[in-house]
Amino acid sequence: MTKIICVVDNAVKEGTGLQSEHGLSFWIETAYGNVLLDTGQTAAVLSHNLDVLGLSPREVDKLALSHAHYDHTGGLDAVLSKTTALTLFAHPDVFRPRYSLRKGEYQSIGLSLSRETLAARADLSLSDAPAEILPGLWTTGEILERAEPEGRSPHHFIRTGKGWEPDPYRDDMSLVLRTNEGLVVICGCCHAGILNTLFHVERNFEGPITTVIGGTHLVPADDLYLSHVIDVFNGHFRNLSLYLNHCTGKNAFERLAGAFGSRVTACPAGTVIDFNP
Ligand SMILES: [Fe+2]
Ligand SMILES: [Fe+2]
Repeated sequence: MTKIICVVDNAVKEGTGLQSEHGLSFWIETAYGNVLLDTGQTAAVLSHNLDVLGLSPREVDKLALSHAHYDHTGGLDAVLSKTTALTLFAHPDVFRPRYSLRKGEYQSIGLSLSRETLAARADLSLSDAPAEILPGLWTTGEILERAEPEGRSPHHFIRTGKGWEPDPYRDDMSLVLRTNEGLVVICGCCHAGILNTLFHVERNFEGPITTVIGGTHLVPADDLYLSHVIDVFNGHFRNLSLYLNHCTGKNAFERLAGAFGSRVTACPAGTVIDFNP
């Protein structure tokens, strides 16, 4: 009954008629309702892909945002225009303006809707603590302890009273789904760092982590860091199944697939992961 469908990703399954874009969105179907995590970059692609997959925005029961970035929030209108009083789960910092510094210019890359506009169109459930979205499905809450490397970009900034500062990505959260087999961690961009996120889940939720799905932001990871991730998976998070996409990066995917074989699977748009066959 519990099923996760990748609706939007940088890549698509061949022959599906789905569209790709730099962005991410997952449909999470449970016995208690449907949750959409993130909305891709554009309402056009999200609407098209939902339609092709036989899913309706009207059947979204709850919405969750992993963080503010445009490639996860840009398609919000595709759902909000078709629903009323939908509850939207996010970290309170999701409304903080975000910027990318490119060629000397700060470009806005955060949520394009103001808090007031969004509050008029959805019930906002904002918390930095783990929040239950539906029975058996939670947000991680803020990843407070970050002893391991984060998933950073040197281009990402926020503006504070002191001027431009590197984005601390306080709003970055993943989702945790309880299945018969164990805990499934569903990531957006994992700017907090994949290992920090998994250690946080281990501290805050009961049960073994069996599966990681989504963007792990290992694109900038060097060989040393990737070897460390593999060592930690081997030593601590044993027998993980990994369904990787979005900001994982080709190099990281190949290293992980080399280390863990068939337990590592690509997760383009159109991928369906069934947990209780
Ligand atoms: Fe991001
Ligand atoms: Fe992203």
